[in-house]
Amino acid sequence: MNVATQELRRRRRTWIGETWDSNVGKKSIVAVTGLVLVGYVVLHMIGNLTAMLGASGDEGHAQIDSYGHWLREFGTPLLPYEFFLWVIRVFLLGSLVVHVVGVYQLTMRARAARPAGFPAKRIGRSWAARTMRLSGPLLLAFIVFHILHFTILAVDVTPLAEGEIYSNVYGAFQKWYFVVLYLAAIASLGYHLRHGVWSLFQTLGIDTPARNASLRHGATALTVVVVVGFAMVPISFATGALPEPVTGPNAATAAHTPTEVAK
Ligand code: HEM
Repeated sequence: MNVATQELRRRRRTWIGETWDSNVGKKSIVAVTGLVLVGYVVLHMIGNLTAMLGASGDEGHAQIDSYGHWLREFGTPLLPYEFFLWVIRVFLLGSLVVHVVGVYQLTMRARAARPAGFPAKRIGRSWAARTMRLSGPLLLAFIVFHILHFTILAVDVTPLAEGEIYSNVYGAFQKWYFVVLYLAAIASLGYHLRHGVWSLFQTLGIDTPARNASLRHGATALTVVVVVGFAMVPISFATGALPEPVTGPNAATAAHTPTEVAK
């Protein structure tokens, strides 16, 4: 390629491309997409807590089922059924892909930049970096499993039905191995969040020696709230603190299945 063509190509590059190519830019994109994912995690945790309102709230349906139904119906009849939900899903998936690819490329660059013969342990392998690189892939694997489990309803080890969120979650958390698996995923999320939120502050440049202690406490507080909020649901179902479902395939009486909330 001659110099003139190279120059032309360089000029045509968008600022997004340039940001993505620079280390600082890529880090910022990883930070911003991480922030989107943190936002989702917090909203999802709050949504899940509606399970704590019990099995029969809204005209005999569990509140969490009505919440799921509302998400699907949002904007209808102006928008098609589930349109809003799909917009969120596409946006989230896009953020997740950009976040993961960005982290992967930054790690590869850091590795390539390491002077030959320099011990790998000395660069980029702090405890925080190692936990991020372990908890990240674990979380990714969990998200794939989790979507197959509760969204696609493909892991039907316990009875599952569309729209019967309370019943689905109740049934799953009667099995000790699902409780252990979900609690382990929540622990991974905790590690990832604690370090992720802290690096986010650094990338965004809001960390200063005077503020560092409060920022660290803020990251820890957010992590504790998210971990406790998520963990409450499987623990409450497993210990019997939450009642049996009144609708859905795990309801005590078959007379209540299936329900209108399902569609
Ligand atoms: C105790 C922990 C959790 C429970 C009980 C739970 C429950 C659920 C349920 C019932 C759904 C399906 C919702 C529906 O059909 O409308 C769902 C979807 C989802 N969850 Fe979770 N979740 C938990 C933890 C997590 C964590 C830690 C993450 C991510 C880090 C996560 C990410 C997702 C995603 C991405 C979806 C797909 C959303 C969609 O269908 O559009 N969940 N979760």
